[in-house]
Amino acid sequence: MGNKNISIIGGGVIGLGIGWQLAKAGASVTIYERDQAGRAASWAAAGMLAPLAEAHTEEPELLNLGCESLSLYPQWVEELATDAGMFIGYRVEGTLIVGLETDDTDQLCHLYEAQQHLGLDVNWLNGREARNIEPALSPRVTTAIHCATDYQVDNRLMVEALQRAYQTCGGVLYENCPIQKIVIENGVATGVQTQNGFHETDVVVLSAGCWSGQIGGLPDAIIPPVRPVKGQMLALQMEEGIDIKAVIRTVRARYPISVYLVPRSDGRLIVGATSEEMGFDTRLTVGGTFELLRGAWEAVPGVYELPILETWAGLRPGSRDNAPILGKTPIENLIYATGHYRNGILLTPITAYEITTLILSGETPETIAPFQLDRFLRE
Ligand code: GLY
Repeated sequence: MGNKNISIIGGGVIGLGIGWQLAKAGASVTIYERDQAGRAASWAAAGMLAPLAEAHTEEPELLNLGCESLSLYPQWVEELATDAGMFIGYRVEGTLIVGLETDDTDQLCHLYEAQQHLGLDVNWLNGREARNIEPALSPRVTTAIHCATDYQVDNRLMVEALQRAYQTCGGVLYENCPIQKIVIENGVATGVQTQNGFHETDVVVLSAGCWSGQIGGLPDAIIPPVRPVKGQMLALQMEEGIDIKAVIRTVRARYPISVYLVPRSDGRLIVGATSEEMGFDTRLTVGGTFELLRGAWEAVPGVYELPILETWAGLRPGSRDNAPILGKTPIENLIYATGHYRNGILLTPITAYEITTLILSGETPETIAPFQLDRFLRE
């Protein structure tokens, strides 16, 4: 079945990951990217691989999917290194979730109890124990949860590696090539229409992130319910005296907003992120930048002296229930892989492997079965 002809709409990490795996299996794959590959949410992300830190008791299936995808990362990193000839900054120093005030401690307690209830590998620390792991933390940090198995990867390196691996395996990439519509005849997807004409295909994969609901040709009932959720971010340059190794996340019950600080091997310290329902607006605001800097400074006072290298805003593709939409649709040969919201980088390996299995075998793997579009069609 490897000789199928497949069109993928969207060249972010999800589209590139699926395309790479399919091309490697012998399929003829073409990715149509509206802009530049991997320069939207995949580029804007922080690269945290944090199913435990982001665990919510009400979302056990999503937590399982995240944990399974995290467990695939060592294999994914090695496979990418072989096919792309580069590593992607996979780091295993763990994550510290810290609290600075009594109300934060109450919230951390609640999270810790939920994590324990789920049987997760987390440890409760006092401020001194947290500072033993990360000396740059503020003396105001009184409590912390250590998620030793929540890791990180450099998402921008992963974009570069996926593009290389995909093209090395024979995948074709058209950039600046928006899809006008998915062509559907008698309930079957038969191809895609671009400004250059109709391209016939055996399977169409829709992985266009927050633009997934805007692709023409889909019956109203199956337009994927995906919206953009804006995140403002910035990058600082770590200097002597600030050498953070773990990912640090704050839990703030009141103000400022909760933030995360993600140290990169090249000395950059990524600080994120706001979460704003602003449509497709990607403007930076004084308030957003101020809240990020204040949140980072309260947790790690030494950031006050650091140079700011970059500021940006990205659009997370959030579905109606914030879980991804993966798998078959009521249209034959039309597959969705979208709506990864805050977990796109974490969920890239499992999405790529399982969607490839689905396309090559025709069978939906059990891991992704709970995430099919039909959960919205039953509402
Ligand atoms: N996963 C981090 C974020 O969405 O901000």
